[in-house]
Amino acid sequence: MCGIVGYVGPQNATDVVIEGLRRLEYRGYDSAGLSVRRPEGHVTLKRSGKLKNLEDALEATPLAGAHAIGHTRWATHGPPTDRNAHPHVTEDTRVALIHNGIIENHQALRERLNGAGHVFTSDTDSEVLVHLIEEAYDGDLSDAVRAALRQVEGAYAVVVSHADHDELVVARMTSPLVLGYGEGETFVASDVPAILKHTRRVSYLQDGQVATLRPAGIQATDLEGHPQELEIDTIDWDLEAAEKGGWPHFMLKEIYEQPQVLVNTLSDRLSQSTGDANLNLTLDPSAIDRIVIVAAGTASYAGEVGRTLLERWARIPTTVEVASEFRYANPIVDARTLVVAVSQSGETIDTLEAVREGIRHGARSLAILNSKGSSISREVDDIIDIHAGPEIGVASTKAYVAMVTVFAMLALHFGRARGALSLEEGQDRVAELKRLPNLVADALEGRPAIAAAARSLAEARSVLYLGRGVHVASAKEGALKLKEISYVHAEAFPTGEMKHGPIALIDAAVPTVAVATDGPLTGKTASNLQEIKARGGRVFAIATRGADGLDGAADVRLDVPPVEDALAPVVVAVPLQLLAYEASVALGRDVDQPRNLAKSVTVE
Ligand code: F6R
Repeated sequence: MCGIVGYVGPQNATDVVIEGLRRLEYRGYDSAGLSVRRPEGHVTLKRSGKLKNLEDALEATPLAGAHAIGHTRWATHGPPTDRNAHPHVTEDTRVALIHNGIIENHQALRERLNGAGHVFTSDTDSEVLVHLIEEAYDGDLSDAVRAALRQVEGAYAVVVSHADHDELVVARMTSPLVLGYGEGETFVASDVPAILKHTRRVSYLQDGQVATLRPAGIQATDLEGHPQELEIDTIDWDLEAAEKGGWPHFMLKEIYEQPQVLVNTLSDRLSQSTGDANLNLTLDPSAIDRIVIVAAGTASYAGEVGRTLLERWARIPTTVEVASEFRYANPIVDARTLVVAVSQSGETIDTLEAVREGIRHGARSLAILNSKGSSISREVDDIIDIHAGPEIGVASTKAYVAMVTVFAMLALHFGRARGALSLEEGQDRVAELKRLPNLVADALEGRPAIAAAARSLAEARSVLYLGRGVHVASAKEGALKLKEISYVHAEAFPTGEMKHGPIALIDAAVPTVAVATDGPLTGKTASNLQEIKARGGRVFAIATRGADGLDGAADVRLDVPPVEDALAPVVVAVPLQLLAYEASVALGRDVDQPRNLAKSVTVE
């Protein structure tokens, strides 16, 4: 969600903060603001719209100061106007604050503070924090921040500056914050790319911790003021990984990174001789009877492919639950249930709370993640890192294929350990998994034909995505990609469901994308597609190169290389992603930062 950057040190604080915000803009981007501390008070500049508006304003009015805090906002309470942008500052400008998260008891606090004479200047929940800190301040900023935070309920990552002190006080409850250590300077941000140019040495603040950043170092306490140790981690990837590097969009770069991502995901985890995957789990595969996968959006579609893999290869009953529902469902899980959380960011609040709910009910837990040190990583028994590298485009691409590939390795491992797969079957699957990077590279070659098809989708009133078996999930993922970055309405159905209702939507302005790679049900799919054509619908089929089972049922074929059915979602993801990408470009949309969305969804 919102992007946060703070800096204390000898560099030009405004430059450090603005550059950091630029690298976080993918998190949320409907307004931006910056406060610079001076002994007489804070100077603050805020602008609605993209960060560029703030940068233009800063060009007209450069702001220099000893330290600075900056924020890009994804609105929750109050529209994205200048006055609702962060930082929020007290009337006398002595306290300035930025916040990510939601203060749930803000209404009651606002009424009390209003009664005590505090004047509010925004509609946000966040502003109560700055008044609470002002009220509690008695010369020690970290004391005041702790006292204020003890009164609030909800989620927060906050950074607070006071004109009296050359320090920033930061705190976290649920929303992420990373602290950076430089030479005579310290940093805080909501994500690593914002500060990686300056340091690789970081600490991930934990829930309930409050830290004070000074040029010389960082000290942490809990909310009561008891000292806390901060673990220092070293970031092992380079900033180039989070830069466009000549590509027109992050999304396209990330789509083309997929062959290499899969090499990294598979890395040295597969053994041809044992027909198994080594995932370094503490879990005994025979200690579980069922699996529940919890995730949101694209990660949940990766989970749906995962369910098919786990059921087919390991014969373990598996369900996929949308995390925002599971967390309130009083789920039926026990010590012989494995709850698997899937998340690129590791910070999605619904997924975090869902896995916590499973753990509260006594389940074993595993997380499939792309983010070291993330909130979810700290809650679970086992972690499998998907090794996709930083994903910046708001629409998830490379993380999805890496998640599916991890599920395939998990299914292989469980299948071998539980005797559902023989040595020979395991070895076949290892060989097939190792082909995935090349198959994805091959699928990328189809881009020109996909771009032509995408131009038709861009003109559609609505697009239906269909698939059978493992490709029901592919269809859902394809439809989500199209709608989120092109704003063309798209819906996904199991192919066989068409005649039970959705076929009523078909006409010349409603084309169908059918994920129809070769398999035992291709003949049935062909009949369903003929039914669509007979009603004037145009059919784009993602089909297996060289297979003729569709028997002319497609108007346009987008071919992918042949692959084992359960792994085909990894390969068909490529044309689905490129269709959405090219449609978005054809419509002139903002591919990497589509409207209303944010990369890391840390609010409910
Ligand atoms: C879609 C997309 C979202 C995320 C979802 C979960 O392209 O990116 O649907 O997949 O918000 O995010 P993570 O994986 O970070 O938990």
